[in-house]
Amino acid sequence: MTAQKIPHHIAIVMDGNGRWASKRFLPRIAGHKQGVESLKRCARACDARGVRVLTVFAFSSENWKRPTEEVSGLMDLFALVLSREVKQLKADGVQLRFVGDREGLSARVLQHMEEAQAATADNTRLILNVCFNYGGRWDIVQAARQLARQGLDITEENFNQVMALAHVRDPDLVIRTGGEQRISNFLLWQSAYSEFFFSDILWPDFDEAALDLAIASFIQRERRFGQTSAQVQAVAS
Ligand code: FPP
Repeated sequence: MTAQKIPHHIAIVMDGNGRWASKRFLPRIAGHKQGVESLKRCARACDARGVRVLTVFAFSSENWKRPTEEVSGLMDLFALVLSREVKQLKADGVQLRFVGDREGLSARVLQHMEEAQAATADNTRLILNVCFNYGGRWDIVQAARQLARQGLDITEENFNQVMALAHVRDPDLVIRTGGEQRISNFLLWQSAYSEFFFSDILWPDFDEAALDLAIASFIQRERRFGQTSAQVQAVAS
């Protein structure tokens, strides 16, 4: 794979944990636990391939509608994973960033998030944005509110400054696993010019080979950003 064509920023909708568990007659939370292992493997693989930013959808604004048991299981898992993995993430040079609405999260989860973010703040190898209690519409609304509060003009440039992912470039490649082909309120603003890759593989089974397929598909596409193919070719040559 040519280094300069490797996506700088990959974003992932990690779908299929529940079905992975059901197929094994396990509780859904077992699928989410395996999903964490898959995320660790994917982050390592992204780093090895030269991807600099990985953004994952861990809990959406709409996931509160799931059964209470699953929501509390996800919150417990999140807190546990953060406390357990932060040392390794620090050693691996991963900078953790939490993206989403802090409103509605428990003091315990917020504390783990703050500690993990602070502990890894100086890392520069890979930025791992974890979208938690996140929705694309929430992001647009919170950005509009910030602009209104600051009395700033409603322009694309000003929006870009205050969106929740203002610290990174827009995703080059958005992957969704689990067979569904929809955006589900993920990075609505930021994915305007992203390439999309849909995989039938359930997230816990999404391995290095699956990631390489997505990257290979990305590499052979022509990104035109509204221009014609001839214009793009002229600039490239
Ligand atoms: C979607 O699968 C997955 C989620 C809603 C949660 C994803 C969370 C993790 C992988 C854990 C992340 C943890 C950390 C610390 C970042 P689904 O439940 O919708 O699966 P289904 O479509 O098969 O039911």
